[in-house]
Amino acid sequence: MAKLAMLGAGFIGDFYTYGLHGMRSRDQVHIIYSRDEGRGRAFSAKHGVPKWTTSMKKAIEDPEVDAVVIGLPNNLHLEAVKLSAAAGKPVLCTKPLGRNAVEALEMLEAVEKAGVLHGYLEDLVYTPKTLKAIESVRSGALGQVTWVRSRETHPGPHSDWFWTKEVSGGGVLLDMGCHCIEIARNYIGKDIRPVEVIAVADTLVKPIEAEDNALGWVRYENGAIGQFEASWTFRGGMDLRDEVMGTEGTIWVNNFLRTGFEMFTAGGKSGYVAEKAEIEKGWIFPVGDEIAELGYYHMFTDMLTALDNKTAPQETFYDGYIVNEIMDACYRSARSKKWEPVMLKVWRGKEKADPISAIRDYDKDHVFVKEERMPDGSIKLILKNKGTGKIIQKIKKEK
Ligand SMILES: NC(=O)c1ccc[n+]([C@@H]2O[C@H](COP(=O)([O-])OP(=O)(O)OC[C@H]3O[C@@H](n4cnc5c(N)ncnc54)[C@H](O)[C@@H]3O)[C@@H](O)[C@H]2O)c1
Repeated sequence: MAKLAMLGAGFIGDFYTYGLHGMRSRDQVHIIYSRDEGRGRAFSAKHGVPKWTTSMKKAIEDPEVDAVVIGLPNNLHLEAVKLSAAAGKPVLCTKPLGRNAVEALEMLEAVEKAGVLHGYLEDLVYTPKTLKAIESVRSGALGQVTWVRSRETHPGPHSDWFWTKEVSGGGVLLDMGCHCIEIARNYIGKDIRPVEVIAVADTLVKPIEAEDNALGWVRYENGAIGQFEASWTFRGGMDLRDEVMGTEGTIWVNNFLRTGFEMFTAGGKSGYVAEKAEIEKGWIFPVGDEIAELGYYHMFTDMLTALDNKTAPQETFYDGYIVNEIMDACYRSARSKKWEPVMLKVWRGKEKADPISAIRDYDKDHVFVKEERMPDGSIKLILKNKGTGKIIQKIKKEK
């Protein structure tokens, strides 16, 4: 059993506590930190949390607390991590790890110096569908992954601080792009170095300083591309979709907006449908169990099992740091309008990754390009002559 200090009584503090108290009911949020006493007390009563405090330090240093969970606005992650490391407490931090890579690196160094377990709470690589998809990719079902497209869009966040650049550190690229980037890393291979990026980050709709739409490409050393599409101005709910393209297969995952549950209501009884759903009547797309679908159960199971076994979870501060470095490069690219290098100060993956290649011989003179059954029933082959380099086509004789 793990006793946890939850820092932050807002939106994610709620989700995390439901996640912790749900599947692993033996784990318990023992103390809630909220700067507002009333909110702390209300959170404590709602979730059956024994203690509440308005002091972040007190929550972290509570002698009964085994690990700290950070669910605070982005500008407070560094302070919370430093206090946890100083107290020798294992610490799990929400996304994005830092407002930039400088903060993220400071956090990574603090926890490693203190020798405490650290987990990066990137829930979207823990959705049941994503876990299964990643397993299929690792077992070779898709051959070599060439391209991952990840989309995280909704009509904009729910609290003032997200929209305030000095507090949040950035707009949708930082807030939602971080999910897409880590999802793509998991499919492409976390040991393959991200080399360079090109990105667009524009403020198209909202009266804010930060970007409300961001698109970009991350090129990995083996040639694979991770494409992200993030928006705070998408209309129609929350769209979390991923596509993985490999040399031997394809995966499409829809994590949220349309998960196979569709309902029509004339609107007699309205109410909560799903996170960021914009309408409550007509055809709506509810989500069966958001805590499960968004990966919170599996994420905390991995994190707290690692704590029990003194191992590392699937996602650590190192991963959070890599994501922050990629995003910093994206911001540079959005300004320069050019490909920009990812400048990693720490890299623990492969020093050299082989380029993607699925080239195979067809016969002693030809390399295989493609085979296709044509409408007339014949099978057409496209081959490349090894000596001349010429591409030819021929009809394959069936046995
Ligand atoms: N899927 C996800 O992983 C996910 C989803 C949402 C939010 N988040 C992350 O969780 C963090 C918190 O976001 P949220 O949605 O819970 O925000 P929120 O606004 O709902 O909650 C933040 C909480 O922090 C409190 N707070 C604000 N300023 C504070 C200060 N200066 N000192 C102490 N407390 C303060 C607020 O009162 C509130 O209780 C962010 O880093 C965000 O990126 C992650």
